[in-house]
Amino acid sequence: MKNIVILISGRGSNMEALIAARDAGNLPVNIAAVISNRPDAKGLETAQRAGIEAHFIDHKAFAGREAFDGALAECIDGFAPDLVVLAGFMRILSEGFVRRYEGRLINIHPSLLPSFPGLHTHQRALEEGVRIHGCTVHFVTPALDHGPVIIQAAVPVLDDDTEAMLAARILTQEHRIYPQAVRWFAEDKLRLENGRVRLAAGQNDGAAL
Ligand code: GAR
Repeated sequence: MKNIVILISGRGSNMEALIAARDAGNLPVNIAAVISNRPDAKGLETAQRAGIEAHFIDHKAFAGREAFDGALAECIDGFAPDLVVLAGFMRILSEGFVRRYEGRLINIHPSLLPSFPGLHTHQRALEEGVRIHGCTVHFVTPALDHGPVIIQAAVPVLDDDTEAMLAARILTQEHRIYPQAVRWFAEDKLRLENGRVRLAAGQNDGAAL
């Protein structure tokens, strides 16, 4: 069974969805550890309650990004993960860190990439007046929010949507597609090859409307 390490910065609802999928027997992975860059991340308590080793490494205690990323990598490597799962981890990672985990580092982003990389995606989608919005799971590359796409879910934007309403509908989809992506990896049905996503035959082709 594959080992995964989950990185969080806050609430941890995507992490919870992964734990729930594992507990339901739908995700054959060992969740070796959860690591947060913030001591007050609510998700750390949730992980501990679930019996998962939880660590925090305060990025503010380090002189710079590379130093923090080095400490983070050391902690991660202690668990020898097959896959590192960014679940609301709100730190930009250095190129060295990203390259170290090439092909085994994935992220979930609350937009249909390549639209709306960065922050405040739901607010920006409403301001732009797009009719379809959503979320994306992708392999992480040094270009922020631009890695090869593994799976996406699309959500219609309704006329009277507020940012909170849209965020909530998309979060429901995040909780569906992230366990799916990790399951593919766990079952050796997903890999990164020459910078492109390869999904085993017979799987969904990446769309999850
Ligand atoms: C999620 O919506 C995730 O897509 C987003 O942060 C939220 C974390 O929620 N991630 C990013 O914006 C990364 N660029 P959670 O802590 O409840 O999983």
